[in-house]
Amino acid sequence: MTTSDFTLIMAPLQGFTDVTFRNVYAGHFSGMNEALAPFIATMGHERINPARIRDVDLKDNQLLPVTPQILGNSAQDILFLARHLAGMGHALVNWNLGCPHSKIAKKKRGSGLLMFPEIIDSLLEALVSQMPVPLSVKIRLGRKDKAEIHDLIRVLNRYPLDHVILHPRTGIQMYRGTADQDAFEAAMQASIHPFVYNGDITDTAAFSTVRRRFPGIRRFMIGRGILANPFLPEEIRGISTDPVRRLTRLRAFHDDLMTAYAGRFSGPGHLIGRMKGFWHYLGHCFRDHPKPVKKILRSPSLEAYCAHVAELFDTSELFCPDS
Ligand SMILES: Cc1cc2nc3c(=O)[nH]c(=O)nc-3n(C[C@H](O)[C@H](O)[C@H](O)COP(=O)(O)O)c2cc1C
Repeated sequence: MTTSDFTLIMAPLQGFTDVTFRNVYAGHFSGMNEALAPFIATMGHERINPARIRDVDLKDNQLLPVTPQILGNSAQDILFLARHLAGMGHALVNWNLGCPHSKIAKKKRGSGLLMFPEIIDSLLEALVSQMPVPLSVKIRLGRKDKAEIHDLIRVLNRYPLDHVILHPRTGIQMYRGTADQDAFEAAMQASIHPFVYNGDITDTAAFSTVRRRFPGIRRFMIGRGILANPFLPEEIRGISTDPVRRLTRLRAFHDDLMTAYAGRFSGPGHLIGRMKGFWHYLGHCFRDHPKPVKKILRSPSLEAYCAHVAELFDTSELFCPDS
C-alpha cells in the first residue's frame, strides 16, 4: 500500500469541525485531504443563514478543500440552497440523509427520511435534473432497521449521484455498537455509485482493516477519530513524530484553536463551552487521562480552564501509536 492512493476526508461534526477548526487543524497536521462541512439546514421562503453560509466561504477554506452539506426535505429549498452554494463557487454539494437526532428525524430530515424511500425517490427526481452542480449523499443503513438500505440503494441507483458516503449504522442506533462492515459491503455491491467508507476509523489498525476488507474503496471519511487523536491521518500515512514533539505539537494546536475561537465567540462562557467539547474526545490521547481531564471539564472559569489545561500538558504523557 502506498500512502497516496487513497483520500482521507474529514467528516462533518456539527459543533466541532467548522471552518475555524478545519483551518487550525490543517495548519498543524497533515494527512487529511479534504473535508465535508457540517450541515446547513434549509430554511424555506428562500432564506439563508449567513453564519452557516460563511462556514463554507471558499476564500476562508483554502487549507482544506471543503464540500458543503445540505439538510432538508423540500426539493425547492434544497435547490435554492444548492444554487446559492454553486454561486459561491462550490463544484459539488452533499445531501444529509443520515443525521440520527430524533428532533431532526421526526421532521423527516436526515435519517428520518430513510424509512421513506418513495419520498427520497420523488425528491431526487425533482432535484437531479435541476441541480447546478453534482450531488452526493451521506446515508446510514436505515432509520430503524438495517434492511431499509436495500430499498434505499434501489432508489439511489436510479439517479446520477457523484458518490455515496455510508456510515453503516442505523439512525436509532446513534453511535452505539459498531459500524456494520458486512452491511456496508452488501450495500456497496448493490450500488452503481462509488462509495466512501465512514465509521469507527479510530486508529491505524481500524483503518487497515477497512482498507483490506474493501480494496476497491479509495475514499475514507474520519470523524471522531481525529478529535480523539489529531495525529491519526499522519499515522495512517506512516508519518511519525517522536513522543515529546507530539505533546508540543498538540499543545500548540490546542492553543491556536483556543485563540481562534476567542476571536470568534463573544464571551468566555461560549469559548470554554466550545473548548470543553473537544476535551470529551481529546482527553483520550493522554495516558491516565480521567482525573486531569475531569478537572478541565469542570472548570468554572476561563482562568481555571487554562490552568487545568496547562497542568495536563505539563505533567501528562500522550499515548503513542507504538506504545
Ligand atoms: C458531534 C457530531 C456531529 C455530527 N454532525 C454531522 C453533520 O453535520 N453532518 C453529517 O452528515 N454527519 C454528522 N455527524 C456524523 C459524522 O459525520 C460521522 O458520520 C460519524 O461520526 C461516524 O464517523 P466516525 O466514526 O469516523 O466518527 C456527526 C457526528 C457527531 C458525533
